[in-house]
Amino acid sequence: MSIKLDNVSTFSGRTDIPGDKSVSHRSLIFGAISDGTTEVTNLLDSGDVQSTESCLRALGAEFKRTQDRVLVTGRGLHGLHPSEEVLDCGNSGTTIRTMMGLLAGQSFSSGMTGDQSIQRRPMKRAAEPLRKMGAKIELTREDFAPITIRGTNLVGVDYDLKVASAQVKTALLLAGLYASGTTTVRGSIGTRDHTERMLPHFGVRIRKTASEISITSGQKLIASPVRVPGDPSSAAFWMGAASIVKDGMVEIENVCLNPTRTGFFEVLRRMGAKIEQEITCESPEPIGNIRVTCQSLRATEVSPDEIPSMVDEVPLLAIVASQAEGTTIVHGAEELRVKESDRLEAVATNLRAMGARIETFKDGYSITGPQKLHGAVINSFDDHRIAMSFAVASLIAKGTTEIQNHECVMISYPRFFEVLRRLSRA
Ligand code: S3P
Repeated sequence: MSIKLDNVSTFSGRTDIPGDKSVSHRSLIFGAISDGTTEVTNLLDSGDVQSTESCLRALGAEFKRTQDRVLVTGRGLHGLHPSEEVLDCGNSGTTIRTMMGLLAGQSFSSGMTGDQSIQRRPMKRAAEPLRKMGAKIELTREDFAPITIRGTNLVGVDYDLKVASAQVKTALLLAGLYASGTTTVRGSIGTRDHTERMLPHFGVRIRKTASEISITSGQKLIASPVRVPGDPSSAAFWMGAASIVKDGMVEIENVCLNPTRTGFFEVLRRMGAKIEQEITCESPEPIGNIRVTCQSLRATEVSPDEIPSMVDEVPLLAIVASQAEGTTIVHGAEELRVKESDRLEAVATNLRAMGARIETFKDGYSITGPQKLHGAVINSFDDHRIAMSFAVASLIAKGTTEIQNHECVMISYPRFFEVLRRLSRA
């Protein structure tokens, strides 16, 4: 299916935002291996989170919905049971990679797979360090799903993480709960830190310094209520829209303002957008309200060390940069090539279809603005972030934009198009 969108005269209003995807996955996984019942409020109800829930259900965890909350009855650290079926992780990289770590140290075997996109994404990055802990993991063609995991006794390791991936970091910390001794992760650990913040919330002691994170076995998780903050990666679309549409303004409530997630906010600010924020809660995750007002934008350079805190917003940044004065250059974003689609190619293909010039590199892009965009047929590549980024582009593209397979937004933001319509003025 596809959706047709026309350019707008302005974009303004107030909205709340669905629960954070990363925190939602973790609240279900940690709840499932806790002692007791974890009450989760504002859980993101989307395709990816449903994939995690159905895998955990197949492993014995129980989920009950009451009004606006989900109750997760945990099985304790050692109480999961084998799934009768191969676990289907759908489109979700977080589900498959983090659960590799969870399943490696169980006393039973598991199979995991997912959709076509998941089957093209690299899994060795998680399997390799887990194998150093003794895990028995077989990958298809040595890097891909379907995956077979033969649960076994694990041994703690000291691992230097080469890829900046919070999913792999989480897999290792989860495996560390089951491994004898201490597991230490060092190297590229400066990614989203929800796991490090949430495990202590469930009573687990971890040791964290600027250069390493350690976890020691023999601990258990105690059920603890989680209020999932609004997803900053979803809020980013409205912030981007308000920044590029004439007289744009948006107010967003209850957004997670964890600094490992707000790189895009900082870049947008540097480009000249007016962003006001008010913090309403500090711990375990900083949360607040933000207000973004359109002002003229100037280009910026994004350096590789900024990418982990805005990795999912790099496609959207290209749309914003197409409207900024000067040349915006992004480097260090090679990970985008192995996301739900090759996001650097997807961005370039679709921006060119809208009449823009963009140069791509192995690890980023360069785009000079401001450029006039025109409506076009957009290939979403079945990638939620591409569909939403180009829905934002459609707001300023002359004429009609048609986004193919727009329903892929169900992965992270099911009501995206409803909110887009509500905040748009024809
Ligand atoms: C996520 C980590 C990131 C991010 C993904 C969610 C997580 O992936 O792109 O949307 O919840 O840990 P990587 O770990 O591959 O960087």
